[in-house]
Amino acid sequence: MMATATPAVALRAEAVARFRAIVLARLGLEFPDRQSNMLAALLQHRLAWHRLDAESYLNSLQSNLLPGEFEALAPELTTPETYFFRNIEQFNALRERVLPALLQARRYTRSLRILSAGCATGEELYTLAMVMQDLTPGPDWDITLLGIDLNPEVLRKARAAHYTSWSLRETPEAARLRWFQPAGDGFVLQPALREAVKFELINLNEAAPNFWRPGAFDLIFARNVLMYLGRTALQGALARMTQSLAPDGYLFLGHSESLRELSEAYTLCHTHGTFYYRRRSTDEPAAMQAPTTAPVTTTAAAAPAKPDAADTIETALTLFEQERFDDAAARLTALDADAQRQPDALVLQAMLRLHEGRHALAENLAHELLTRDARHAAAHYVIALCRESTGDLAAARIRYEQAGKLDESFALPHLHLARLARERGDAGAHRHELARTLALLEHESPQRLRLFGGGFDRIALQNMCRTELRRAIEGKRP
Ligand SMILES: C[S@@+](CC[C@H](N)C(=O)[O-])C[C@H]1O[C@@H](n2cnc3c(N)ncnc32)[C@H](O)[C@@H]1O
Repeated sequence: MMATATPAVALRAEAVARFRAIVLARLGLEFPDRQSNMLAALLQHRLAWHRLDAESYLNSLQSNLLPGEFEALAPELTTPETYFFRNIEQFNALRERVLPALLQARRYTRSLRILSAGCATGEELYTLAMVMQDLTPGPDWDITLLGIDLNPEVLRKARAAHYTSWSLRETPEAARLRWFQPAGDGFVLQPALREAVKFELINLNEAAPNFWRPGAFDLIFARNVLMYLGRTALQGALARMTQSLAPDGYLFLGHSESLRELSEAYTLCHTHGTFYYRRRSTDEPAAMQAPTTAPVTTTAAAAPAKPDAADTIETALTLFEQERFDDAAARLTALDADAQRQPDALVLQAMLRLHEGRHALAENLAHELLTRDARHAAAHYVIALCRESTGDLAAARIRYEQAGKLDESFALPHLHLARLARERGDAGAHRHELARTLALLEHESPQRLRLFGGGFDRIALQNMCRTELRRAIEGKRP
């Protein structure tokens, strides 16, 4: 039971730390300090749901005595960002190099087993199924296409196979016409494809020896999932995948992830403008190993801009603040291709497109950033701005919430959430979000204020919030 003698704040911090440790141990998911408030809110919510005090809940959670509890937590703790044909160059490599090699190697057994690990809502596995449909040499082949995830909600959506046009944003027209039928305000996948795949609730952080049998898979897609795991969980998941991959099997990671310093069991392959791994057979020379310099990481997203590029981006930002949008865009365009892909440059470019009213372009740039770092709060924020500008307020709200959750020091999403709450007549949420904005504005980063403050500085924004909050408390519409 909660010790009444313990100060509530200390107990809460302790409880949150324990909650975080249990989540890491059980699900493998690692959360930085800046996400403690999100964990605290989730813990509070689960305590209220179970009507338990923190200690009883955490004891039961740790001993696995709350049936279905980790499945209930998973949707709150994971990021299911995905879409069809994501990083299409990987699918080109698959179609033209990897699958022909595997089909040739398996021509006697006529069996091919493909896994999408961390499949989210299924777009990746269905894309694999589409590619396979073109290549399968005959009906006597036994093709397994399996998607696994620890979030039961995304698996339900995957099985339903009903998608919005946003999930199809990178889908070639021919594939859209061939595999999708319009349904309501979205699309549903052809039955042939739905019947070709299976989805299973599997946690990559669990040993599950029956699942990870040696040689169980010929090809594993584990894109944008290992990056969420703590070091031990990551090593465990990688060891299980490696063990279950056939000796000549292939592993695909996310665009900006690598196995450097993590495994010597693979040869790094580079074709079609992309990287992927082939499991190394034991007699292959060590020189063929993947280079060993950095772990699975979003290296591209994290790499700092070159000094001269950083100066240019800074100049472009100043021009943006002065509303010299064309000049700012010209500076960014003068950067080399790599520098233009730096996160700061991408966000600024997206804001420039937004100012021109080119929402789809702005959103694409933000999504490019998310493919490298799905937790990039500013990218979610830019998408929210785009959605709000086009009147899709429900989607905007979700993205603002996500931005605020991913970076708990980010004030501006809360300002928009306050406005959205006011528009829908939710006075409580309006006041709450304004108060939150005010509290966070105090320490909001100057860079973000320059980008997203709409020309207002910290003090002006604080004054606006105070006035609006005072009027809201007095019950007046601002
Ligand atoms: C960003 S999505 C990646 C989707 C897809 N692979 C792609 O790249 O488009 C990450 C997915 O990994 C899943 N995930 C995270 N930790 C996991 C774990 N320990 N076991 C299984 N799935 C996990 C999440 O639930 C989420 O759906």
